[in-house]
Amino acid sequence: MAYACGVLDMPRINYGRTRSLAPTCTEAALPLIVPHPVSLGSGWVPEQHIFSNGTPLPQHHGAIKTSTRFDYSSSHRANRQKGRVHKHFQPKQQPMIPVYKPFLTGREKEYVNRCLDSTWISSKGDYIERFESGFIDYVGIAAATTVCNGTVALHLALEALGIGQGDEVIVPSLTYIASVNTILQTQAKPVFADSRADSWQVDPDDIRRKITPRTRAVMVVHLYGLPCDMESIVELCREHGLLLIEDCAEAFGTLYRDQHVGTFGDVATFSFYGNKTITTGEGGMVVSTDPRVIEKAIHLKTQGVSRSREYWHDTLAYNYRMTNICAAIGVAQLEAAETILARKREIAACYRERLRGLPLSFHDTLPGTRHSFWMCSIALNDPLARDPLRAHLRNAGIDTRPVFHPAHTMPHHATGESLPVAESISARGINLPSYPDLSESEVETICATISRALS
Ligand SMILES: Cc1ncc(COP(=O)(O)O)c(C=O)c1O
Repeated sequence: MAYACGVLDMPRINYGRTRSLAPTCTEAALPLIVPHPVSLGSGWVPEQHIFSNGTPLPQHHGAIKTSTRFDYSSSHRANRQKGRVHKHFQPKQQPMIPVYKPFLTGREKEYVNRCLDSTWISSKGDYIERFESGFIDYVGIAAATTVCNGTVALHLALEALGIGQGDEVIVPSLTYIASVNTILQTQAKPVFADSRADSWQVDPDDIRRKITPRTRAVMVVHLYGLPCDMESIVELCREHGLLLIEDCAEAFGTLYRDQHVGTFGDVATFSFYGNKTITTGEGGMVVSTDPRVIEKAIHLKTQGVSRSREYWHDTLAYNYRMTNICAAIGVAQLEAAETILARKREIAACYRERLRGLPLSFHDTLPGTRHSFWMCSIALNDPLARDPLRAHLRNAGIDTRPVFHPAHTMPHHATGESLPVAESISARGINLPSYPDLSESEVETICATISRALS
């Protein structure tokens, strides 16, 4: 069976709606591939967080769970009480409820198999273009380019805007560290803004206070899937002639006044890590309303290669490309996007309902926004109750994550300043299990466990 996957000699810009999405691989009875090695959540992994490559998983990703939860059957329990348990008896271990696992129930395997069968497994191939075009249509943006993760997407976005030494970029301190590290990687200086207590998002008033003659850009982060106050921030950036970057790593499917995040600024980025709302395993996207920004990003992500002269590299650049295999997963995930988002909204509603009346607040949607609930999160009224509650949940077989530490408190970014709202949310916040497959009865169990611990 022949596969006519197009040869893509030169890096191309994807302008979206103009391209045909017709698949060029012929339909064929395809062999099944082995299960995706990123086993994010099923089965148990004793005593350590494992990711696909066997390395410990960074805490924030929250994708894999550990389990030491033992399930003694009643007969074993009775025998144990009577002293009749064999000394080599191994108690049965039950899986924990993880914080996240990807939803891979669509055509992911079929599309990946097509890549393997056609041998288009590297960064050239049909699925790259299909994923970019599909993403452009979904988000409603002019141009987009795939990259190999959300961190390099940010780095590329900053470089494509020409941000570098001598520039200051205002960024929320309450974010995942990649937002801040990538600013430093361009030699620019991150300047931290505090958050708002109601939304947990960056506070436009504090952005305004932090503007200096060296401020070149504002980077907003739509944390945990709720949008920032884009009206105030866009207005402020216009008023001061500042560039606007949107870190949408956690906000696929998030809307502000019916408009997708990622379409408000000069450039925006997404992450498709295994725990993100849609995933490609590892992956990211840079999008912009200005195709010239994406042209620049493509040039930089492909070693700065000339479009007209082979192996001629006219600038210092990177290899930040996504593989066709990852893009194939992305295409299948985009097809499931609305199902995933609807399921996450149902889970959030279930948490909201069952946690009502407890001494905590739920990180909820605000008027004029559509929260995509990448993470369903709570903030306890009492910061001292946070870690004991997490330990209690862990003992009950329920994994959680703490809200990020504010970047201004970390050793390589420490500024010694006080950002009280970010610090307070960070001390009180917990991310609860939030994956689309989480059942209503599991949410009930989680909420009942929280309720017992807090009463
Ligand atoms: C806000 C934010 N920005 C950037 C990133 C980086 O994305 P990736 O892990 O794909 O490099 C993440 C990842 O979790 C994130 O949460």
